[in-house]
Amino acid sequence: MSALVTTSVKDGILTIRMNRPDKKNALTHAMYDAMGKALGEADADPAVRVVLITGTADCFCAGNDLKDFLENPPGAKNSPVLNFLKALSGAKLPVVAAVNGPAVGIGVTMLLHCDFVYISKTANLSLPFVDLGLVPEAAASMLLPHLAGHPRAAELLMLGEPFTPQQAVEMGIANATCEPQDVEAAALKTALKLAAKPRNALLQTKALMRADFESVSKRIDREAEIFKECLASPDAQEAFTAFREKRKPKFS
Ligand code: COA
Repeated sequence: MSALVTTSVKDGILTIRMNRPDKKNALTHAMYDAMGKALGEADADPAVRVVLITGTADCFCAGNDLKDFLENPPGAKNSPVLNFLKALSGAKLPVVAAVNGPAVGIGVTMLLHCDFVYISKTANLSLPFVDLGLVPEAAASMLLPHLAGHPRAAELLMLGEPFTPQQAVEMGIANATCEPQDVEAAALKTALKLAAKPRNALLQTKALMRADFESVSKRIDREAEIFKECLASPDAQEAFTAFREKRKPKFS
């Protein structure tokens, strides 16, 4: 079996690829571990100047693996997902995302911590946390209202309805939409430009732009506590079981 997360470094760019196309790149504990570790190592490696996160040919990420949620629920502290989110939200290097297909749940919320985001025109995006009996993670409950305004954030987080790549651009989640075959090239072009910049000035600029990291980090922790409680609720268990059984959930 090929690695579910692959990493490679070229021209100062670390590419982290979610590589589980048969499950739409749904993330398991092991995948969060690999991604969190790669981000941590990149920050400490002077040969790496930029991180590029992407998925496979026609999919970015279908969110957390729902089977993993049932069998392997994350704890509120030191879970692989939390470690990954802390590594991403605290990343010192610039992070560019190439969203080459559907992005759901954490597939979207991770974008809120990237510096540049390019999305395929054909990608559907959604944040179905409430419909799964859950609450948002990755500080999305704070960052999304800040970016998009409360009413639009409520549409995404409370109604959980799919939204388009163009809407993601309008709300400030992404820089641009691209033809599907051009997404990675657009992300790589920006990554190459960044890799050629003076490293210290670039990193200091990112640090200044992300100066409220502490409050983001606290919100990630707070959400994780509530998320853990929700995960054990009958509503969430029903939502995951329904997904596995390919039927609509029946909430109490
Ligand atoms: N966890 C586990 N498995 C998942 C998954 C997830 N989050 N998302 C997709 N898969 C699996 C499906 O079960 C299916 O597996 P199977 O072939 O063994 O039946 C396979 O990936 C393909 O998914 P499918 O739904 O057939 O693909 P699609 O192109 O029709 O739809 C999505 C793609 C991403 C829109 C859809 O799979 C989806 O909505 N997934 C759930 C997303 C979600 O709720 N994530 C959690 C957010 S917190």
